[in-house]
Formats: sequence, C-alpha cells, structure tokens
Amino acid sequence: MKVLLIGSGGREHALAWKLAQSPLMTEFYAAPGNPGIAEHARLVSLKVEDHEAVAAFCAQKAIDFVVVGPEAPLVAGLADRLRADRLKVFGPSAAAAQLEGSKGFTKDICARYNIPTGAYRRFNNAPKARAYIREQGAPIVVKADGLAAGKGVTVAMTVEEALAAVDDCFEGAFGAAGAEVVIEAYLDGEEASFFCLCDGSNALALATAQDHKRVGEGDTGVNTGGMGAYSPAPVMTAEMIERTMKEIIEPTICGMAESGYPFSGVFFAGLMITAKGPELIEYNVRFGDPECQVLMMRLKSDLLPLLLAAAEGTLDKVTAEWSDDPALTVVMASKGYPGSYEKNTPILSLPEAGDGAKVFHAGTSLKDGELVATGGRVLNVTATGRSVGEAQSRAYALLDKVEWENGFCRRDIGWRAIEREKA
Ligand code: AMP
Ligand code: GLY
Repeated sequence: MKVLLIGSGGREHALAWKLAQSPLMTEFYAAPGNPGIAEHARLVSLKVEDHEAVAAFCAQKAIDFVVVGPEAPLVAGLADRLRADRLKVFGPSAAAAQLEGSKGFTKDICARYNIPTGAYRRFNNAPKARAYIREQGAPIVVKADGLAAGKGVTVAMTVEEALAAVDDCFEGAFGAAGAEVVIEAYLDGEEASFFCLCDGSNALALATAQDHKRVGEGDTGVNTGGMGAYSPAPVMTAEMIERTMKEIIEPTICGMAESGYPFSGVFFAGLMITAKGPELIEYNVRFGDPECQVLMMRLKSDLLPLLLAAAEGTLDKVTAEWSDDPALTVVMASKGYPGSYEKNTPILSLPEAGDGAKVFHAGTSLKDGELVATGGRVLNVTATGRSVGEAQSRAYALLDKVEWENGFCRRDIGWRAIEREKA
C-alpha cells in the first residue's frame, strides 16, 4: 500500500514510526514531515494548504491512502478534496471537522442529543455576553468559537476575568475565531482524554491519556499545546470508558450522521470526570499531540489496517491490542515557549532509543546537515515502564542525555498518576 502522511509534528513522527512497521506498507511519503519522520518516510515538499498540489502528487504516485495528522487541513477540507478523486483518507470532512472547528457547533450537537457537557450560551456581541456572565457569576468559562491554537479558552475564577476575556475576544485577540463566543459552566473534576476511531457508524475505542497543558511544574503558569502526557489515564476506569462510549461517543456518531455530517477519523474527546460521571469539554478531530506519542508506544496491533478500516467503513471487523504497560512522554521546548523563543538553536546530540524508549521529533529541522530546533515544542522524549513511575524515570534518564542548550522541560510529568501509585 502506498501511503501519504500529512503533517510535521511529534504526533506525525509517532504515526510515521508506527505506520512504517506495517507489513502492508510498500511506499511511504510524508508532507512536509520533519527529520524524525524522514527516518521512516520519503519527505515531499508540498504546500499542504494547496489542496490541488496534494491531489496532483497523489495521482502522480498512485497513492492508495492519505493519513491527515493535524486539524487545520481537515477544517480546510483537504479530506473532501482527496475523496473527490476517490482516494481513501483518514480524517473527517470539513463539515464533520466542525466538531473541532466550532465550539458552538459541538455544544449544539450536545444539546440536541443529550450529551453531558457544561450548560452554555453562544454570543456574537459583547454586551449580551457580559450580561450573561454577571447573571451566572464565577467561576465560568469563556471560549472563542473557532480554532485559536489552544489559546482561546479562559477559565475565569472571577467575573472581572470573564468580562475581560469577552472583551479580548470581541476586540480581535483571536482574529476571526473570536467573532463568536461560547460561555459555559465551569466543570469541576479530573480531566482525561479519550481516543476512539469512527467510520461514520461504527466506533472502536482506542485508549486514554492525560496531558499536562500548563507550562510550569505543579500545573502552573500559562496554557500550552501540551508539555507531556501519559497513557492510560487511571481516572478512566472500565466503567468510565463504558459510560463515555454510551453517553458521549455513540450519541455523537448518531447525531453527526443524522445531521448529515457522518464522522470518520478519530474522536479525541476532552473529558472532565465530575461527580456525575464523564462530561464533554471539547472534541478534537485528530490525535492529540503529545497524547498520540504515548498511544503509539502502547499499541501492539498494526496501525495501518485500523486507520484504513476507519476510512473504509469496516471498523466493526477490526480490533486493537494494547500493552498494559504505561507510556509517558516529556516535551522538550525552546526556552521562552509558549511565548517568543530563539529559532535555529543547535541540538548537538540525541540519545539512541532502545526497546520501549523513543525520542520523537516535533519542531526540528536540518540546516546544513545539522539538527536545529525550529519550533516551540521540539522533542518528545518517550518511554514505557511497568508503572507510570518507572516510565517517568526512564523518560527523564533518556532526556538527560539530550544535548540542547536552549531546551527546557517540566520535571514532573505524570505526577498525578505517580501520587496514586504511591498511595
Ligand atoms: P479546550 O481548549 O476547550 O481544551 O480548553 C482548554 C482547557 O480549559 C481544558 O483542557 C480545561 O482544562 C479547561 N476547560 C475548558 N472548559 C472547561 C469547563 N467547562 N470547566 C472547567 N475547565 C474547562
Ligand atoms: N495536547 C492537546 C492537543 O493535542 O490538543
């Protein structure tokens, strides 16, 4: 099978590493890719936003299957364009990608199909939004409707903070994404991420993970794309997974199909496990980054037939096997991230990965043959262990061998699970 992978982050390196192990793979390309992905696939310098160019490349190489990693090309309709050429694609249509592209869209689906989530209202002007906040009081959550690179959400502990967030949105802090605002009830509990493949009508539960969104240790400081993750998430017991499938995933699948937007691809459900059970915070329509890295370390089955089954509508015919051993990944980021940071700083040495240990590349490039850091999040140092504690020790031992002056990381990834293990 000839496969094209779209994307260039740590998530796509993990997907490439796993896909390349498939006996079904005959030719493997990635666009635009990164130096880590280049170990597994031939890199193609396509502009991914240019859907015609991607379609032309697929025709020229007789590509059989396209796997889309990030959300932006999905929201922009790349999967639709390629399907028009009868290509098999992993990833939803632009219409179905609204589950990630518009928070208001998702809340409306939840309301219509009784999916547990925080009570909410949508607003397109500041005065009404402000009045609603004053009426509801704090804590309360203010969200820019559209894609805002993970920065459009304010969990406001005071009414003043919430009012300021509304002003930011309508004054253009998030561009077009903030033209509409969703205000929702604050949910109290422990967060977890749940991943599930879907082919439009069937679902295959994958695994759970927990991310660390804040930049600082002890979950302090500003939000980031994610500073580390582990899988599985202990809070997602078998009972919680079953309830999530029944109360959240299945009604979403039915609701999307009934609304005329059948969903195929991966559901990444951000959940809050509250006293009432699982409640939906948000959907993403792609794998999490860095959650994907820990999922791929634990997946024992061949990934290619699973993604293909999601694209072909045959998920009821496949199963996925997982290692019971937890996996943990630590993100190394450029100093200054998520604010401004220096680019092209040299990465002098990366440790050899062994069994159950791997350094995935995110924001790296080759400059005159030398490896440099070009992104905010740069490396994902990943390891497995018999416990989260052991996976953490192995990951940090590996990380300490990375020679990169301008890198930093959190030293406490996995702390919640490790505290549980000690209790
Ligand atoms: P999102 O971009 O929707 O994932 O939101 C970013 C983060 O804000 C989430 O990971 C949660 O930590 C937090 N958050 C979002 N919505 C809520 C809510 N309704 N209640 C409490 N925290 C929330
Ligand atoms: N790590 C969070 C995300 O991928 O959205």
